Amino acid sequence: MTQAMPNTDPLKPGYPFNAHLVAGITPIVKDGELDFWIDRPSGLKGYIINITVSGGGLVFPNTENERTVTKGDMMIIPTGAVHDYGRHPDYHNWYHRWVFFRPRATWYEWLDWTDKCSNVGFLSPRKQKSEGLISTIDELFQSIDNTCHQNSMLSEELSLNLLEQILIRCRVLDNSKPMSPIDPRILRACQFIHENIARELSIDELAQVACMSQSRFSHLFKKQKDVSVRQWIEDQRIALARQLLITTDLAINQVAQYLGYQDALYFSRVFKKNLGESPREFRQSQR
Ligand code: FCB
Repeated sequence: MTQAMPNTDPLKPGYPFNAHLVAGITPIVKDGELDFWIDRPSGLKGYIINITVSGGGLVFPNTENERTVTKGDMMIIPTGAVHDYGRHPDYHNWYHRWVFFRPRATWYEWLDWTDKCSNVGFLSPRKQKSEGLISTIDELFQSIDNTCHQNSMLSEELSLNLLEQILIRCRVLDNSKPMSPIDPRILRACQFIHENIARELSIDELAQVACMSQSRFSHLFKKQKDVSVRQWIEDQRIALARQLLITTDLAINQVAQYLGYQDALYFSRVFKKNLGESPREFRQSQR
């Protein structure tokens, strides 16, 4: 019996999106081979951000959330949110660039856009006369596409860095949401986490560094960073683990130890939960 080959083209249905970051452009032309509806009722295992480059797309058709997106409009679809979009029937084409990613914990505040329908965020910079910014963001999307296909060492790090720039620019564009300055006590605790990343850190110890009670500290941290202290620490460790796996030949258990994980298996599990692949697979895919 022949087994069905997994789809390796992200533009076609059935692509597994197991990777940590995938980017591309979908050039949909009326009646062309990509002119089908993108219908993922259970969403994906990561976020998607997209920008319309030309033509028009239709999102959530025939519902109260129906939206039309045209040049410069962006959408952000969180993990698990419904994908229900395609070419708008009034347009001959819909070209859109997109990036699939698993966010870093430090990004959560930037992922929550004000204008949301069924969990999907929308941003229309065009309406704010931001021509310059749209082309900058569009170029960043293009650079991610080029960079992530290079398969060179650190190309994924570079792509994530470019993506971070997009998210920050979107945050600036989403100007109806107030910016809250980071409390210096939380900053101090973050600094402390970085300096002590390779050892066990308790909330009690961090709260003391921030001169607050444990509950006040955890609450303020979550409020300011949109993510729990534990998740934030884990994310810093994963970011460092990625770098060590790419740039050094340290064995997986050495990397785990370096990051304060006594148990290498547990480290591998945490890594896979965050990035969708084990440290070994990640290292192989990067080299
Ligand atoms: C492609 C779609 C694009 C995006 C990626 C993840 O097939 O064309 O809009 O959803 O998948």
